[in-house]
Amino acid sequence: MANRKYIVGNWKMNGLRAQLSDIADIAAIAANHEGADVGICPPATLISAAVQANPGFAIGAQDCHFAENGAHTGCLSAAMLREAGATYSIVGHSERRADQQESDAEVKAKAEAAHAAGMDAIICVGETEEERDAGQAIEIVTVQLARSFPADASADWLTIAYEPVWAIGTGRVPETSDVAEMHAAIRDKLEELMGQGSDSVRILYGGSMNGGNASELLAVPNVDGGLVGGASLTAAKFGPIIEAAA
Ligand code: G3P
Repeated sequence: MANRKYIVGNWKMNGLRAQLSDIADIAAIAANHEGADVGICPPATLISAAVQANPGFAIGAQDCHFAENGAHTGCLSAAMLREAGATYSIVGHSERRADQQESDAEVKAKAEAAHAAGMDAIICVGETEEERDAGQAIEIVTVQLARSFPADASADWLTIAYEPVWAIGTGRVPETSDVAEMHAAIRDKLEELMGQGSDSVRILYGGSMNGGNASELLAVPNVDGGLVGGASLTAAKFGPIIEAAA
């Protein structure tokens, strides 16, 4: 089934209040390109202000805790992020899987917590360069997906992002044939995991997507959008990606 493209900017640990004007500029471009769904995940400190300043524009979180509340110093629950105005959360980004040693089981619980709090979830999966070189990319990613997969998943609230770890922030992107092969494998695994409705789950590509390569990547079968890091930080860089998707 053809899916409407979905372009999400992940600002990672970038952005002070001075950068709220960039979100406003991006929201204005998105409003002029209604053919695609667009959102930005700023640092949590900016969620509330970004939501208030850009009504109707989709602001998300970069992570949420899996617990409802409790003794987890420095963490934010899904309900807190939802209350701040986030309507979705990225979970299981490879930087968190590496830096915070997040397991697949935690990622699954985080996606379920996001949904329980009324948010959508974007689950990230991806292989390292060593794993790809060893010919294990598809096995690694599909197993990661299965182990991170939430109960009661539905295309209404779940999106998958395939982000090869070696392509993140490096300027390197896989061959389009490799992207096609991986997205097809993810699509097959989704069908196995959830059956009916799996065709409507959007599968985003992430990893050095920019204005120069977005059209080509977005034309690959089963690539339903992009999860964009560096090139989402300004309207000048993100705008062409939105245009390519709309
Ligand atoms: O989540 C987005 C991401 O990891 C890709 O980052 O900077 O390569 O677009 P970047």
